[in-house]
Amino acid sequence: METTLVLIKPGGVSRNLIGEITGRIEARGLKVTGLKLINAERATVEAHYAEHSERPFFKDVCDYLVSGPIVALAVSGTNATKAIRAMMGATNPIEATPGTVRGDLALTIDDNLVHSSSDPEAAAAELKLWFPEGTV
Ligand code: CMP
Repeated sequence: METTLVLIKPGGVSRNLIGEITGRIEARGLKVTGLKLINAERATVEAHYAEHSERPFFKDVCDYLVSGPIVALAVSGTNATKAIRAMMGATNPIEATPGTVRGDLALTIDDNLVHSSSDPEAAAAELKLWFPEGTV
């Protein structure tokens, strides 16, 4: 059993895709063990993307994440991190396979709808950041 983090970005929330994305996760057999709709603090977003702080897109992606409400999900199940990464599809939606969230619902890397933890170690750190109170 493993727990991982998914963020539904402002574009996903404004396009009313919370149910679509969460529904796919639940239909796969994974459990939602944490769920919040929030206006993220800039400091939290910058900590979340700290590994990208030297990349040219860092400011834009942080601006984007604080531009509107987001949903943070803790998702638990067997191999949850790997399963979620596969379901979300390639970071750049134009390279994402049809059948994945990005391959079906997104078109550009700037608005790729979701973030998901890259591996179990990243998931543990990201869950601590977004769910400091813990999950159920
Ligand atoms: P995410 O999985 O949230 O991790 C970093 C985010 O930065 C990424 O999804 C994209 O939304 C955004 N981004 C913008 N440009 C790039 C890029 N060239 N490479 C990787 N990520 C990018």
